[in-house]
Amino acid sequence: MIISDYLAQADALAQDCRALLDGLEPGTRLDVAKGQLNALKDQRLEALQAALRMLPAEDRRTAGTAFNALKSSIQDALDGFAARVAAQGAGAPFDGSMPARLPWRGSLHPVTLVIDEICDIFRELGFTVALGPEAETEWYNFGALNFPPDHPAMELHDTLYLGDDTLLRTHTSPVQVRTLQRFAPPVRVLAPGQVYRRDFFDATHAPAFMQLEGLAVDEGVSFVDLKATLAEFARRFYGATRRVRFGPSYFPFVEPGAQMDVEVDPGDGKGLRWVEILGCGMVHPNVLEAAGVDSERFTGWAFGMGPARIAMSRYGVNDIRTLYDSDVRFLEQFVR
Ligand code: PHE
Repeated sequence: MIISDYLAQADALAQDCRALLDGLEPGTRLDVAKGQLNALKDQRLEALQAALRMLPAEDRRTAGTAFNALKSSIQDALDGFAARVAAQGAGAPFDGSMPARLPWRGSLHPVTLVIDEICDIFRELGFTVALGPEAETEWYNFGALNFPPDHPAMELHDTLYLGDDTLLRTHTSPVQVRTLQRFAPPVRVLAPGQVYRRDFFDATHAPAFMQLEGLAVDEGVSFVDLKATLAEFARRFYGATRRVRFGPSYFPFVEPGAQMDVEVDPGDGKGLRWVEILGCGMVHPNVLEAAGVDSERFTGWAFGMGPARIAMSRYGVNDIRTLYDSDVRFLEQFVR
């Protein structure tokens, strides 16, 4: 063999190997590709190696360099093919033991879950849902609810005013008045909604939070109805064995006013304790009259509770801010 033939054969083999690998189906497995490549090249490579010794001494150095270049060009072509296979993930055997990639699932916010559950319980007790505006007038938020004109809640440091007579409602109680203006008794409504106060955002306060108002007005309604309904609600929400207690409290729009406490275990290892979950009372006659309801004929009771506080007591959350951080690592616990 002469040197020019030798170099031409080496060149041809390098090209054939590259053409083989380039021409394979994209999904070809690496071991299959290697098999085909070996079938193509092994004999020809051996022949070229043997031919080295047949060449005149002065050509062996050139031929040896060409032989080594041929081997590394074949290896490069094979490496390139392997990299393409890895990049596509094609040819990788299916591994049934790998964990499945589940689609990410959203969930309702714990406060929304609590509101829905409370609405469901009161729906069974004959209540429907009513809504009112978040921007209120002073009259609906305070005046009609029997607040005296100089009540401290109306101060700028307690209430967020939008203009002279418009403010962000500080509670959902104005919906009591709006409902009684629209519908004649008997009335049984639940009014969930956002309320606003100039509070600091700390572990137990948020300047914007949900409230849930309840109102029942009819002839012959008494404090017995209030106690029985709210105690029944607590039994259904917290469980039949949970104890509740009522104590006196003051709100200008109820008389008498009360609060209901429930014995809950916040899950901090210290066991059961009394937690106030709502304010309530008999609707003040001045409120009925302000809404155009005959207070000689009708009586009623009302309550207001904070679903965030209730969610905290139920799920063992001790900082209200975690409810508003929008951290999915916290919120995804509530996926149902
Ligand atoms: N509106 C009161 C509050 O914001 C709660 C309440 C509602 C109390 C109805 C009594 C009756 O705290």
